[in-house]
Amino acid sequence: MEKTVVNSWNEWDPLKHVIVGRADDCHIPPEEPALDAKVPEDSDMRGQWGRRPQETIDRANELLDNFAAQLQARGIRVDRPTPIDHSQPVTTPDFHTDSQFGCMPPRDVLLTVGSEMLEATMSYRCRWFEYLNYRPLMQQYFNEDPNFRHASAPKPRLTDADYRTDYLSEKIGIEKRLEWTADKFFVTTEEEPLFDAADVLRFGKDLVVQHGFTTNLKGIEWLRRHYRDHRVHAVNFPGDPYPIHIDATFTPLRPGLILNNPRRRLPDDQREIFENNGWEIVDAAQPAHNGPPPLCYSSVWLSMNVLVLDPKTVCVEKSEVYQAEQMDKLGMEVVEVELRDAYAFGGGLHCCTADVYREGTCEDYFP
Ligand code: ARG
Repeated sequence: MEKTVVNSWNEWDPLKHVIVGRADDCHIPPEEPALDAKVPEDSDMRGQWGRRPQETIDRANELLDNFAAQLQARGIRVDRPTPIDHSQPVTTPDFHTDSQFGCMPPRDVLLTVGSEMLEATMSYRCRWFEYLNYRPLMQQYFNEDPNFRHASAPKPRLTDADYRTDYLSEKIGIEKRLEWTADKFFVTTEEEPLFDAADVLRFGKDLVVQHGFTTNLKGIEWLRRHYRDHRVHAVNFPGDPYPIHIDATFTPLRPGLILNNPRRRLPDDQREIFENNGWEIVDAAQPAHNGPPPLCYSSVWLSMNVLVLDPKTVCVEKSEVYQAEQMDKLGMEVVEVELRDAYAFGGGLHCCTADVYREGTCEDYFP
């Protein structure tokens, strides 16, 4: 019997089926150009690599398992990746790296648009093979759903030509970084198309893509040529000194409403398509924490990395009380989820998931 397994056009329609990542065997990868550019200059992660401490892996898995169970209790089907051995080095004709990253967060790798799931090119060498963690699921969906399209973007070569050496200096300083970000001078060059799936937000017929460290203009152009029935918009956020992955910066909650990180404001000329169509862009609430947890890549703004379950219901991290309060004021029912001890593995509630099925069809929100 024909059945549709894969279908998702936006970030807010009722969620019915989702992938939740795992922390198994996650590694802090060795130095490489694009990754080094992203690790905050004052981070405790600088200069160390290897398998993450087992007790942190166990704790993160406990939280991810609980999150999966919470979703299942609401009738949502949850699938999990099959971890590969991330300690394996990667050698291609073009580069070598001594370990991989993990199978967190799936949002970075898999981009679901309608009935297609696309494996992103990725832009870190340690993440080149990360799609393998999800291949058993891709095969399963392929067998179950005759309309499912499994796609993979061209694997990038990731030679040194992909990275700006300016970013290799140990101490760049926040001021210089902000200047570079404002000038759209990022660590990745325009050698070849590069993108991570988590730089893309889906608004039905429109895809909004962050130009930054992990996604270059050629990557955005590749997406434009791939999604021929869509309009693809490049955005950038000058206030972010480490611009990777759009989902702690710009968070659509429902048709007509987006949270924007007040420190990373969308420039005026890029607001038009939203404002001309009656969408409101509001400042996200302040994070509840002064700093990220240990060995974490991300900033405190994972507070706004929420998972929308339907236009009236949203998962917010349990300790993020200001964010929860704001959701309540915006008329959303808040589902509290404990996840902070898993942040170090690559992100929050939106990051650690990847859409498989949301109800609804492809709509034009910006006619
Ligand atoms: N760059 C974001 C921040 O530190 C974190 C984004 C994480 N998102 C993800 N999909 N991994 O504020």
